[in-house]
Amino acid sequence: MQFLRNLRILVTGGAGFIGSHLTETLLANGAQVAVLDNFDPYYPRQEKERNLEAFRNHSNYRFYEVDIRNQINLTKTFTEFRPQVVVHLAARAGVRPSLNDPEGYADVNVRGTAILLEEARKSGIRNFVFASSSSVYGKHSGEPFRETDNTDSPLSPYGATKKSGEALCFTFHHVYGMSISCLRFFTVYGPRQRPDLAIRKFVRLALNGEEIPVYGDGSSCRDYTHIRDILSGIIGAIRWGESDMPRFGIFNLGSSNPILLRELLDKIEKYIGLPLKRKCLPFQPGDMISTFADTTLAQRELGFRHDVLFDDGLREFVEWMKTQNSE
Ligand SMILES: NC(=O)c1ccc[n+]([C@@H]2O[C@H](COP(=O)([O-])OP(=O)(O)OC[C@H]3O[C@@H](n4cnc5c(N)ncnc54)[C@H](O)[C@@H]3O)[C@@H](O)[C@H]2O)c1
Repeated sequence: MQFLRNLRILVTGGAGFIGSHLTETLLANGAQVAVLDNFDPYYPRQEKERNLEAFRNHSNYRFYEVDIRNQINLTKTFTEFRPQVVVHLAARAGVRPSLNDPEGYADVNVRGTAILLEEARKSGIRNFVFASSSSVYGKHSGEPFRETDNTDSPLSPYGATKKSGEALCFTFHHVYGMSISCLRFFTVYGPRQRPDLAIRKFVRLALNGEEIPVYGDGSSCRDYTHIRDILSGIIGAIRWGESDMPRFGIFNLGSSNPILLRELLDKIEKYIGLPLKRKCLPFQPGDMISTFADTTLAQRELGFRHDVLFDDGLREFVEWMKTQNSE
């Protein structure tokens, strides 16, 4: 990945799950990386500080504790670091909590994205990568999901904010000629996964011998995608955006292998080696019944690959969780 050498990349939300892995990989490939993060209290700051530990002392790494909605501090960061590429991962990221705070989600994910895009434009950024989500597909009939499918009916405020973020990105590409890729991540898992996400929550409860809430009859399914595969897509998108001609693209990053909720629980039981205590609860409003990515476009344009087999990734994840004091 020679093209990354000395490229100056600003990663917003870089203290989080996906951002910290991305930062580590970019640094390992010779990029200069600045993480911008406000340690949003959605989950503990301590956990995010731990995410940064692996590269805290790397000579090509800088950290800015900044909120993307603070235009003054954003300008200071851009002036000081002078990024060439922005990878925008900072967001309020939970689906269910967005039902209780639609305004807060819109504020960070839509207003914050607009402020960041404007700052990027003023700083002459030509290459911008935006973290979107499979949640934009919402009320979807027919599978697998393709980027050309209708996304006018997201089922949660979170999904609606990501759809709005994509629209803003298109506008900035159209008006200012910035290259922008919007990456629709399909449920990402792996070490450092967000504590609110299903796999981590289930494994934690199982290791502690606690009850696992199972929403619905277990027939919902998710296209779980390993963090290593997601990284290949993000790096492919950075390279794609380095072209001379301004481009805009929306790409699914998923593993095209939907796993039923009940199948997931059986596999966790197998890899932990203990029977799970399952508690059946009603299906949750805002949740999608299934997600399933068609990644033909990302494979062709970004060189994206989904290499990690779910069983391998899950086994590795369970081993990682055992080292985390079951948090
Ligand atoms: N993890 C997934 O399965 C998944 C799926 C689809 C999309 N995404 C998107 O990918 C991105 C990263 O997700 P993640 O799972 O790593 O989440 P995460 O919560 O671990 O990381 C997001 C980071 O953004 C930071 N942040 C939040 N608000 C901010 C603000 N106002 N200013 C600056 N920083 C702020 C948080 O402190 C956090 O460190 C998000 O945009 C999310 O919506 C994630």
